Amino acid sequence: MILVTGGAGFIGSNFVLDWIEATGEPVLNLDALTYAGNLRNLASLQGDPRHVFVQGDICDRPLLDRLFAEHRPRAVLHFAAESHVDRSIHGPGAFMRTNVEGTFTLLEAARQHWSALPADKKAAFRFHHVSTDEVYGSLAPDAPAFTETHAYEPNSPYSASKAASDHLVRAWHHTYGLPVVTSNCSNNYGPYHFPEKLIPLLIVNALAGKPLPVYGDGRQVRDWLYVGDHCSAIRAVLAKGRLGETYNIGGWNEQANIDIVHTVCKLLDELRPDPAGPYKRLITFVADRPGHDRRYAIDARKIERELGWRPAETFASGIRKTVQWYLANADWVADVQSGGYRDWMAQNYATRAPGA
Ligand code: NAD
Ligand code: TYD
Repeated sequence: MILVTGGAGFIGSNFVLDWIEATGEPVLNLDALTYAGNLRNLASLQGDPRHVFVQGDICDRPLLDRLFAEHRPRAVLHFAAESHVDRSIHGPGAFMRTNVEGTFTLLEAARQHWSALPADKKAAFRFHHVSTDEVYGSLAPDAPAFTETHAYEPNSPYSASKAASDHLVRAWHHTYGLPVVTSNCSNNYGPYHFPEKLIPLLIVNALAGKPLPVYGDGRQVRDWLYVGDHCSAIRAVLAKGRLGETYNIGGWNEQANIDIVHTVCKLLDELRPDPAGPYKRLITFVADRPGHDRRYAIDARKIERELGWRPAETFASGIRKTVQWYLANADWVADVQSGGYRDWMAQNYATRAPGA
């Protein structure tokens, strides 16, 4: 059995579904079910004994100790985090608590469990920390993509909290010998993506005839990866990654935000035409994000060279699948657009007057 934290969120739930299908190995899924966690993502596993769900907090040490003692997982896949940059600007406290203190608490519980294991199990144990390329900061337009040795230069409360967690994981390996691996991935997109993030927000707003908010000049660049490819990369790192190493994961797919917006509009024009006219009429430039990183790009050669991983989806195939998924899952979208979601949308966009 493996312990997955944050397995009811966007990437975590995709990972749990992918893992059980690919390996059949049971998952103990620990998730606090914050606004971002949704058990509907895992509805297809209902009644499946290979999925054990526990609602709980990674900062709760007695709970972690109980779970390790009872289920004796052979590995920890640590996804749980506060993950949205804009929310971290409005309220950084939750990011420090979950991303820093939560990772610390989980490391300590894992270390206690691991130290008492017999030698063979001790050697086989893994703590896989799932992190982001945002820890490296912002790239100049013509600078080479981030390698694993790029300096850490986090710029947002979110990326600073993830950078801190990466450092803790590294230190627990060097100081205590805990067998860790860390992966730093670029922006994901795909099914079950909470519609506060750019791509799902564009899809759900367009379908509702609402403005498509583009921060600043829309020329910020991200390196987009289909979530299923992130899941297969994590499986590869867990199985074959060298201890104490970090692996950058990316899609070789750098795109400016405004180009993403046009791609999504064109796909929707094809798949769900709006009698009122092309969706691009809804594009609205709004005030920029404070401290907005200009460009992220991942050099994913190390994971390819050492572990033989490359993304399977192109952006064209992945974004089409994603738009089709949102069109086919209007119930899921309606379900996550609860009162809390509406409050966030009002808070984040009310102060962003149109025009850039
Ligand atoms: P998400 O916000 O969709 O999901 C986070 C999950 O963690 C939710 O289910 C939430 O309920 C849970 N959680 C939050 N606080 C918790 C706590 N204290 N205890 C237990 N569970 C808690 O995030 P995501 O986009 O799926 O990201 C997952 C991980 O991948 C994060 O660590 C993130 O930093 C990293 N990452 C994300 C991206 C991306 O593009 N989304 C890219 C690279 C890395
Ligand atoms: P996001 O999905 O929040 O991911 P991240 O900030 O972690 O990269 O945003 C992706 C890009 O899209 C980022 O440059 C900010 C921009 N963006 C907008 O232009 N409008 C929006 O409404 C949102 C949510 C993001």
